[in-house]
Amino acid sequence: MSARTMRAIRLHEHGGPDVLRYEEVPIPEPGPGEVLVRVHAAGVNPPDWYLRDGMTTMPGEWKSTVSLPVIPGTDVSGVVETVAADVEGFAPGDEVFGLLRFPSFKGSAYAEYVAAPASDLAHKPAGIDHVDAAGAPMAGLTAWQFLIDVGHDHPSPFQEARHQPTALDADTTVLVNGAAGGVGHLALQLAKWKGARVIAVASGAHASFLHELGADRFIDYTTSRPEELVNDIDLVLDTVGGPGSASLLRTLKRGGAQFPVLPGGVGEEEAAKLGITLSSAQVRSNGAQLAELGRLLDTGTVQVAIDSTFPLSDARAAHERAARGHIRGKIVLTAT
Ligand SMILES: NC(=O)c1ccc[n+]([C@@H]2O[C@H](COP(=O)([O-])OP(=O)(O)OC[C@H]3O[C@@H](n4cnc5c(N)ncnc54)[C@H](OP(=O)(O)O)[C@@H]3O)[C@@H](O)[C@H]2O)c1
Repeated sequence: MSARTMRAIRLHEHGGPDVLRYEEVPIPEPGPGEVLVRVHAAGVNPPDWYLRDGMTTMPGEWKSTVSLPVIPGTDVSGVVETVAADVEGFAPGDEVFGLLRFPSFKGSAYAEYVAAPASDLAHKPAGIDHVDAAGAPMAGLTAWQFLIDVGHDHPSPFQEARHQPTALDADTTVLVNGAAGGVGHLALQLAKWKGARVIAVASGAHASFLHELGADRFIDYTTSRPEELVNDIDLVLDTVGGPGSASLLRTLKRGGAQFPVLPGGVGEEEAAKLGITLSSAQVRSNGAQLAELGRLLDTGTVQVAIDSTFPLSDARAAHERAARGHIRGKIVLTAT
């Protein structure tokens, strides 16, 4: 009997968005501990184009162990179709969302079906749709693991020490650089949820969007330099990286911390001289943390903004949109 098939995006070679091929492939078989999910929506994240490119633009010393052809993608929201015999807590018909198998780059989310480790999944909040839920996992867990709780002891390729979030409360001021992006807009909202004062840095078009999400102050990096306007703050969450990272150190008080989500833009020595802790982490799949974030999404305490949606068949257009930059929230592929 021939295998049941589905449509999926696959890479047969590395390169630009045109290497994302929409084709017919077998529906995966869930292994032990896994759940077969009928994908309704798949989130688009930077690692998807790092994998597509062959890791040439990936920060740090990272080599792909993924062999081609491969289905890219890590973030899904969908409905459980079947569960392996050893899986507890999920049943056919359940709506679920998750960041799958990260950081292995073997999430295979750009497809109509995915075999997902149950431990990477959480029940989708009933109050949000599949598109919003698919936008949440990687960006939301990154913000959560940097700001709230790392939640694991796995070593990071970025630093030896375990990342330690700064306690956030009404006495804390946090600057979020890249505040309109996937990680940034969710980090802003988590910091507000904890009671912190938040300064959002982004290009000017995002000002009212970020104020509506709760930003107490907005800085347009295209017309102003944050380090000339802000000082003595407690924490910088920098989702942008690159040459601007070092100057953000000057916004911080001695004893403050800078968390580069994209490590490498600022040196440890420079930070140490100013009495600033530099700390990073690598996001990891975590269904239990996603369930906690899901409660905030369900009540609207945290909202996922959708930059744009594209049909799964046109993942190429989604990657072309991402390459144009200035993303506000999340890009999501729809599979039904
Ligand atoms: N450590 C980890 O495990 C981890 C996890 C997830 C993501 N990341 C990394 O974190 C980075 C951000 O990811 P993301 O998903 O949030 O990306 P994203 O959705 O593309 O957001 C990037 C945002 O940065 C803004 N931006 C660009 N240049 C800026 C500048 N000079 N100053 C301030 N804002 C600027 C962009 O819009 P405007 O320019 O219009 O403001 C955009 O909104 C990526 O490099 C990704 O690889 C790391």
